[in-house]
Amino acid sequence: MWVNRFTKTPMKAKIKKIQIFSISIFALAVIIMIFFIPLKREKAVPDTEERSKKIILGFSQIGSESAWRTRNTQSIFEAAEANDIQIIYDDAQQKQENQLKAIRSFIVYQVDVIAFVPIVEDGWDNVLQEAKDAGIPVILVDRQINADPSLYAGFLGENGVEEGRRAARFLLSKCRDKTEKVTIFEMSGTENSSIVKNRARGFREIINTDPKFQIIHTENGDFLRSRGKEICDVLLANNVRENGNTTNTLYFDGQKIDAVFSHNDSMTLGFLDSLQAHKVNAKNTIFITIDAEQESIDALKDGKLNCVVECNPNLGPMLMELVKQIAEGNTIPHITYNNETVFTEDDDFSVYEPRGY
Ligand code: AHR
Repeated sequence: MWVNRFTKTPMKAKIKKIQIFSISIFALAVIIMIFFIPLKREKAVPDTEERSKKIILGFSQIGSESAWRTRNTQSIFEAAEANDIQIIYDDAQQKQENQLKAIRSFIVYQVDVIAFVPIVEDGWDNVLQEAKDAGIPVILVDRQINADPSLYAGFLGENGVEEGRRAARFLLSKCRDKTEKVTIFEMSGTENSSIVKNRARGFREIINTDPKFQIIHTENGDFLRSRGKEICDVLLANNVRENGNTTNTLYFDGQKIDAVFSHNDSMTLGFLDSLQAHKVNAKNTIFITIDAEQESIDALKDGKLNCVVECNPNLGPMLMELVKQIAEGNTIPHITYNNETVFTEDDDFSVYEPRGY
């Protein structure tokens, strides 16, 4: 018998051992194939940790000029939390330059989506091109811009033109039996903002259907309560000068004011503050305002205002839906308007729900 000279194991036994070893290796390979290859395939889908990675939203708000704006910011924060979306927030303090800086910092941070409220219409092309080059989609909130629409994913907010039309339709209906001229004093908000331009356009579109309506003056009140008060203070001071005493009738430049159309509640409420401070009861003046803050709804109920056009600040839930759509790689509608209504002196006030802002 042939014997291995080193181990002294007989050759036949050695061959058997090799065969057993080969079979074991083969079996092990089969086991590995059965258990490990499917596991590897599962890895192609993100695991739980990867899936739960939060979407990061860079959000630039313009400031806190009104209760409307404060509610708008709150709504966005609440909805982000409810949707597990992380917000990197910047308050621009009413300055476009601060918004440009904030957007650039969001780009550096490589957020997933950028949302911002453009304070004015112009001057956004370069920064939006930078966001586009960085592959970060942008959503405009509340206000629109003059720029190539391909530079942003979409707009979410109110239909400002329609708000202006609603305000004017109320005035037309209220004055339908008047044959003489109806003079309008307009208080507008932030200059060069889309919202002011759109509301003014919608309002004029409707009043221009009847030449008896005339806008005798437009004053910019920056959407601020303090400015609304100042504007009324000046009118009343001139009333005194022109009439010898402060009357319950409002005048501008010697012309009686039949209606005040205010682009937001803050300015309207400031105007009412001034009337109250001067003990003027301007009940013969028609007051139309936009926003529908609780305080202005209360003034409507008290007979101090005649019409309140709603501008809905609760954009958070819709914004988060759009953010999620974009983060999943879907496109979003280029324009998404929120739902809004009109409150007037003719309503049944008992059915009003609390406004929440
Ligand atoms: O852009 C919306 C307007 O901005 C609201 O009417 C006003 O209250 C706010 O400041």
